Amino acid sequence: MTKIRAPFEPAPWPRRLRSQEWYGGTSRDNIYHRGWLKNQGYPHDLFDGRPVIGILNTWSDLAPCNGHLRELAEKVKAGVWEAGGFPLEVPVFSASENTYRPTAMMYRNLAAMAVEETIRAQPIDGVVLMVGCDKTTPSLLMGAASVDLPAITVTGGPMLNGWFRNERVGSGTALWQMSEAIKAGTMTQAEFLEAEQAMSRSSGTCNTMGTASTMASMAEALGMALSGNAAIPAVDSRRRVMAQLTGRRIVQMVKDDLKPSDILTREAFENAIRTNGAIGGSTNAVVHLLALAGRVGIDLTLDDWDRLGRDVPTIVNLMPSGKYLMEEFFYAGGLPVVLKRLGEAGMLHKDALTVSGESVWDEVKDVRNWNEDVILPTEKALTAAGGIAVLKGNLAPSGAVLKPSAASPALMVHRGRAVVFEDIDDYKRKINDPDLDIDETCIMVLKNCGPRGYPGMAEVGNMGLPPKVLKKGITDMVRISDARMSGTAYGTVVLHTTPEAAAGGPLAIVRDGDFIELDVPNRRLHLDVAEQEIAARLAAWQNRSARPAGGYAMLYHDHVTGADTGADFDFLRGCRGNAVPKDSH
Ligand code: FES
Repeated sequence: MTKIRAPFEPAPWPRRLRSQEWYGGTSRDNIYHRGWLKNQGYPHDLFDGRPVIGILNTWSDLAPCNGHLRELAEKVKAGVWEAGGFPLEVPVFSASENTYRPTAMMYRNLAAMAVEETIRAQPIDGVVLMVGCDKTTPSLLMGAASVDLPAITVTGGPMLNGWFRNERVGSGTALWQMSEAIKAGTMTQAEFLEAEQAMSRSSGTCNTMGTASTMASMAEALGMALSGNAAIPAVDSRRRVMAQLTGRRIVQMVKDDLKPSDILTREAFENAIRTNGAIGGSTNAVVHLLALAGRVGIDLTLDDWDRLGRDVPTIVNLMPSGKYLMEEFFYAGGLPVVLKRLGEAGMLHKDALTVSGESVWDEVKDVRNWNEDVILPTEKALTAAGGIAVLKGNLAPSGAVLKPSAASPALMVHRGRAVVFEDIDDYKRKINDPDLDIDETCIMVLKNCGPRGYPGMAEVGNMGLPPKVLKKGITDMVRISDARMSGTAYGTVVLHTTPEAAAGGPLAIVRDGDFIELDVPNRRLHLDVAEQEIAARLAAWQNRSARPAGGYAMLYHDHVTGADTGADFDFLRGCRGNAVPKDSH
């Protein structure tokens, strides 16, 4: 029999890595861990102490936005091999936006928990987080942050531009527009079906500045992805180059022991918040970054979002706030151009460290803007104050959010009569009723759609307008809820109202006919009902949402926190580290 064996040299690495607790020795346990992996044909010298890199892949046939990540993982592996690491691809929970019910958000924390345990329990020295669809990015970042081993993100990249009848079709954004057009009678169902394929021309994530593109941008702005990662289209050859470079880089990060806790500093979060304002990013970034900050012990608050984003002009002219799509953002120079602009405006912590080992400023200072219609000059910004507006008042004591760049300027100060929907089913029952007592001056109020109420805080806050209003040519009304909204959506929509209705927040006691005042410039959300009456209603309030009888839904119900702290589980906040668990063999 041929002896296949390379010399077992002492580890060439600067220190003994944690994977050696499994692989580095001659004990029965070492042989058990190593020997079984050898059934895949790995030579013995791969266990010599080199970094074992877990490539955490959210590929799934049921996560089409991440459907190309298996192919992309091969490029990551190539990079890891080149740099002298040992890559092992690991499938992890993939909370896909477009299939999970009641909402993918309900599973973000489950995915994060699974990722955390997957990393800690296994012989892994560093991780590449392969993500894309909305919840996959925050869930893997959260899980990795709670372990604090070297980690780097590579996203799958956006789909190519959608085109329908010579018009750009933005993922999600077009869906909302067209479904309203059908209700208004200006589009047929047959045309809608024809547009469906045009919307999704290639592999990749939503091509608007929706939540997926926003979170890819957040990962880059936080310093957790290589510079330029966010905007490269999924099918562009440069996406594969990025994957390979990411694979190379993680090996060096392990050698340097460069961990999330070194990168995810308060300065990094402040950079990300300002970036979100500049790109007109999704309101979902608020809950995800608050949750991520909680994992690394950064005391980030809703007030930080308002304070830091207030003066940031939205300069990225992408749907849903603007005109273009991610493909054009990439051609214009992508996120590095935006970060450079923030730096020039004194709105960037330039020294913040990134996964490259360089500062964010070193990464972006020499880039150029190649299209000033896509990345706008400040004087042509879509909105001068583009950050997330955080509203407070007796209707939202702990806060609510609104995205000014996606809202109607004429509605930013508005007083209207409430038309109340007790939950999403109530809304669906009533909204198409021609006898519904509503007009465009009213404020639509949706309750029981928060983290605990829905459950999962579904993206239903941008509830469609009633057909009788749409038929007048009206396209926006003030809407208030404790829900979230898709990052691809738009409108004067107040979201994440906290405390949520299902937790007994004041939203729960709003009644038809009450008057509500929205004053975005003064950050005020006020229920114009006498204090005594509010107190009496709250005292009489009864919780409508039943506690689930068991399973994950019960865990979720019992432990999810409010939107103002990121809707994480109370017991998952913080970093639990990467100490090697005991061996039981
Ligand atoms: Fe997956 Fe938009 S639905 S990225």
